[in-house]
Amino acid sequence: MTAPTPLIAGNWKMNGTGASIAEARAVAAQLDGRHVRVAICPPATLIQRMSEALAGTAVLVGAQDCHSEESGAFTGDVSAEMLADAGARLVIVGHSERRAGYCETDELVARKARAVVRAGLEPIVCVGETLAQRKAGKALEVVTGQVRGSLPRELDRKPYSLAYEPVWAIGTGLTPTLPEIEEMHRAIRAVLRELFGDDGDKPPILYGGSVKPDNAADILHAAEVGGALVGGASLKAEDFLGIIRAV
Ligand code: PGA
Repeated sequence: MTAPTPLIAGNWKMNGTGASIAEARAVAAQLDGRHVRVAICPPATLIQRMSEALAGTAVLVGAQDCHSEESGAFTGDVSAEMLADAGARLVIVGHSERRAGYCETDELVARKARAVVRAGLEPIVCVGETLAQRKAGKALEVVTGQVRGSLPRELDRKPYSLAYEPVWAIGTGLTPTLPEIEEMHRAIRAVLRELFGDDGDKPPILYGGSVKPDNAADILHAAEVGGALVGGASLKAEDFLGIIRAV
């Protein structure tokens, strides 16, 4: 089976206003047609404007979260269908900041992933252990458990990706060693094969957590690493491009 096309996705988190669309345009203007898919996930308020600004370029626009229902009395929430209507093509679900800050369980993450597929979009399903769990020797068990619990059957034969993001590596400048990353990505791949058979080879498994231009090449060339989910370094076009060029 040929390796999945790598995906480099930028997660802007709660950063950016209309003026920041210039950074996304700068990324789009510099893409040199290499074998990589590039996405930027801005705050929901920017999705429509960014989709319009990037129309006809190779940069996809994504969202950072969605509700599991299509519509209804859910004050403040946004559905996957609404994100699709605004121009999003991908949706991050289960980011550790959502799991920790909003008590999102594997079961809820699976419902959100199902909603993303229902809307015809592509989920990026995030998993990752805390430092305490890694220190207790439970990282593999925790992460493979999250993968089993967060992936609905509906993903079968649909485009999606996983993102392994150790919680302790996010925004800290710390990263696991390359053998630790490879061990985890291989374990995730094994669960995907178990759940989806040969189709479990298709989704790229992204690494996320303090990916920067200077560590990107090593991480992106590690076994079973199919791209990156990038937070802080996706906010500046030059840094994000440095990571994209490392593929
Ligand atoms: P970071 O964030 O690159 O700033 O560590 C990654 C993420 O939270 O997706």
